[in-house]
Amino acid sequence: MRVGICGLGTVGSGLFNLFANNRSEIDRKTVISVELVQVGCRRDHPDCDLSSVNVTRDIFDVARNPEVDVLVELIGGTDTAKDLVLEAISHGKHIVTANKALIALHGNEVFAAADAKGVTVRYEASIAGGIPIVKAIREGLAGNQIEWVAGMINGTTNFILTEMSKEGSNRSFDDVLKEAQDLGYAEADPTFDVEGIDAAHKLTILASIAFGIPLNFEAMYTEGISRITSDDIQFAAELGYCIKHLGVAQRDGDDVELRVHPTLIAEDQMLAQVNGVMNAVMVGSDAAGATMYYGAGAGARPTASAVMADIIDAARETSVPNLGFNDWSEPNFLPISSISSSYYLRLAVEDKAGVMANVTTVLSNHEVSIEALIQKDARVRDAQIVILTNEVVESQMDAAISELESLENVTSSVSRIRVASF
Ligand code: HSE
Repeated sequence: MRVGICGLGTVGSGLFNLFANNRSEIDRKTVISVELVQVGCRRDHPDCDLSSVNVTRDIFDVARNPEVDVLVELIGGTDTAKDLVLEAISHGKHIVTANKALIALHGNEVFAAADAKGVTVRYEASIAGGIPIVKAIREGLAGNQIEWVAGMINGTTNFILTEMSKEGSNRSFDDVLKEAQDLGYAEADPTFDVEGIDAAHKLTILASIAFGIPLNFEAMYTEGISRITSDDIQFAAELGYCIKHLGVAQRDGDDVELRVHPTLIAEDQMLAQVNGVMNAVMVGSDAAGATMYYGAGAGARPTASAVMADIIDAARETSVPNLGFNDWSEPNFLPISSISSSYYLRLAVEDKAGVMANVTTVLSNHEVSIEALIQKDARVRDAQIVILTNEVVESQMDAAISELESLENVTSSVSRIRVASF
């Protein structure tokens, strides 16, 4: 089986070197031989010796090359990547990609083209780097109905929140982000990480392979970590929680909720132990129960490991439908206002008699009950109040928050973080 790689950045160079370093291991695992025959890249990579491979500066040469059976798309982005993949499919090539944006935004079209041509599209590396989560769901849990998927699927945000949580850490947000970029974890545009878009792409794909539903990025509620302050992290710790950037996909009959946002997780939960650039995904299924998958979610070698597994799969000619289901059910994607959650609320109030009573009255009018409450002394003028609530429907909380924000004595907007327990 002849392989062509397009893109020689972080993942492409990791894959190129894995071909060389694990040559005998790859040969032991396939009956037909797997050969790297062409690399399409704009420029060479200092870590790769390209002397023994055919190199082209036009990646579309790889898509048209009759000597290539499998095109590995590692250029990232969506427009050119989509054209490249569709061109390769039209020439009868199987596709392996690490491109979550491509699959989340254009997967339905790409899969339809692949099905029409009788080729496969594999995308294990698009979610959670070295964790074989696609294979775990599609193969290991194939006998189950999957009820929910929850996890931290962006290494950069986990890395930033972990650093912000360290006692005595004086590192700035920008400094930590730069380290993540230097280590090859962050996206080309790091706002994709920080604002939750990268995690939303990955969760879109996870939900589709878990529930057998079309890819629908538009149905996702997406919130990043840029509004989380070190005060929030400290208050949450006082209440026995840490703050993680969590993706949650949940199915109840035809209703599906899809959301990525900062979340309070109790410190004794397994997901709360996942720190640094590491990713973890928990899957709730009817027969196996809850299972959890943990590992490096980004970086050259972990992601190349996932790409190589797909190449080996292609050589073994395992054939499954591209989303793992032969028929997709059309669910009812729930808006964020319909979800139920407990909430962490932080607001500033004037330090006056009766203010706390006003706040609790508003919450009680909206049938929101208080589980815990912290009030901090006024630092300059206002006092900070932090409240943990019981579980309510988000639209109820929206109404309570707007009323709180209209109170004369409330001097800040209300910061809201959802609380989760799995
Ligand atoms: N930017 C991504 C992350 C890379 O930080 O997880 C892996 O998809």
